[in-house]
Amino acid sequence: MEAFDLIVIGGGPGGYLAAERAAQGGLKVCLFEKRALGGVCLNEGCIPTKTLLNSAKLYRHATESENFGVKSENVTFDHAQVIKRKAKVVKTLVGGVGMTMSANKVNVVSAPAAVNGRQDGKFKVSAEGKDYFADRLILALGSEAVVPPIPGVKEGVESGFVMTNREILDETQLPKTLAVIGGGVIGLEMACYFASVGVKVTVIEMMPKIAGPTDNDICKVLQSEYEKRGMVFKLSAKVLSVKPGAVVYEDKDGQHECPCDKVLLSVGRRAATKNAGLESIGVEMNRGAIVTDDTLATTVPNVWAVGDCNGKLMLAHTAYREAEVAVNNILGKKDRINYNSIPSVIYTDPEVASVGYTKEAAEKAGMKVKEVNVPMMYAGRYVAEVDGGKGFCKIVLDTDKNRVVGVHLVGSYASEMILSAAMMVDTELPPERLKKFVFPHPTVCEVIREAIFKL
Ligand code: NAI
Repeated sequence: MEAFDLIVIGGGPGGYLAAERAAQGGLKVCLFEKRALGGVCLNEGCIPTKTLLNSAKLYRHATESENFGVKSENVTFDHAQVIKRKAKVVKTLVGGVGMTMSANKVNVVSAPAAVNGRQDGKFKVSAEGKDYFADRLILALGSEAVVPPIPGVKEGVESGFVMTNREILDETQLPKTLAVIGGGVIGLEMACYFASVGVKVTVIEMMPKIAGPTDNDICKVLQSEYEKRGMVFKLSAKVLSVKPGAVVYEDKDGQHECPCDKVLLSVGRRAATKNAGLESIGVEMNRGAIVTDDTLATTVPNVWAVGDCNGKLMLAHTAYREAEVAVNNILGKKDRINYNSIPSVIYTDPEVASVGYTKEAAEKAGMKVKEVNVPMMYAGRYVAEVDGGKGFCKIVLDTDKNRVVGVHLVGSYASEMILSAAMMVDTELPPERLKKFVFPHPTVCEVIREAIFKL
């Protein structure tokens, strides 16, 4: 009988970090991964999209920097090279995860695994005809792209005309026209890449605004910046069908066709919990996701679920923290996660980053709030580096409790600035204390300081 202290199923950010931390804590750990270590984040999500977006940014800098005194001629963009470089970046990082697993003596099994009930008081996990046993389980099963039952979508996926985040990252030829179904995080990041390198992009979104729960003013800035670059938005638009060469949708003006060479389907993701054998141990589920509490415990003792498969906040950094919380609890150190102070970033150009409540969400939750909005132009570095940018920083203060409950940024470096905002939200320090922090000058981050002084 091959027995472990802990079996982790899924080798994405939640799974591999859980395995690493548990092994460092002295447990004998076995990790199962059916595709590649690193999961969606490393292989077909966060990391590959950032390599693409950086190439797009370099291209835009090369072609749009005359005002900055940089004139260039005959600049070309080689998408196939971008994809080649992306593959190299992914290979390096996936290799790094593998080395970390061996350095920590985690037993990695590259096979699809499923929970298979219990035997002799231990959980049984089966993979490729072999059984493995453990006292505890961490489920880190990840998520998969939602493929809605819209007529023609399934056939489109089969023929390669319709792509999800997975296929689009391996496409070596740039389409001339791209229809993006779903103007959420994935749709916008990919639309930003393709529009920046000359592809005619149309975003078809069923809601009246893009970027889901993001602050409304930020959504407006993002949309207008994109429209300037020739991107077209069809909002409050219902996709009726997909047929070869076009997406058929309906809005208040009637039925339309959006002709396109390729379609990106980015209408959300769902927990990948099918075929994992969870029914064999009776874990409680909610609409396909595993139910967990704030220690990441499931309803079955000694079984935890971290990352996208618990359906809470589908972000790699959430999975990291969840992994640590679960392992700490396994090792006897009490720990809980605070989902309210987890930042989120949309890596578009301009970047969007936020943490905590928007004004509307805070009011809906019954808080009395004050919101301040400071243009990024207040920061000297922003003016020096960005020509006429429309970036801003909003801070939402709970006036009863005198603490910051939300920060929302759009503009350069937003992704790098949001951590300081997340710390403000997490530590619940009052504005009087926040005013004493010294921000380096000149940095764009000083806009946060300016906003604090306006609270
Ligand atoms: P999403 O939930 O962010 O956006 C999906 C969008 O599709 C929504 O705006 C929705 O209204 C729209 N939609 C749904 N059905 C539709 C239909 N039939 N026709 C037109 N529009 C439709 O989901 P997305 O972009 O697929 O991302 C999935 C997950 O991955 C998210 O949870 C996100 O947080 C995560 N992610 C995070 C990133 C980041 O942190 N930078 C990057 C990429 C993904």
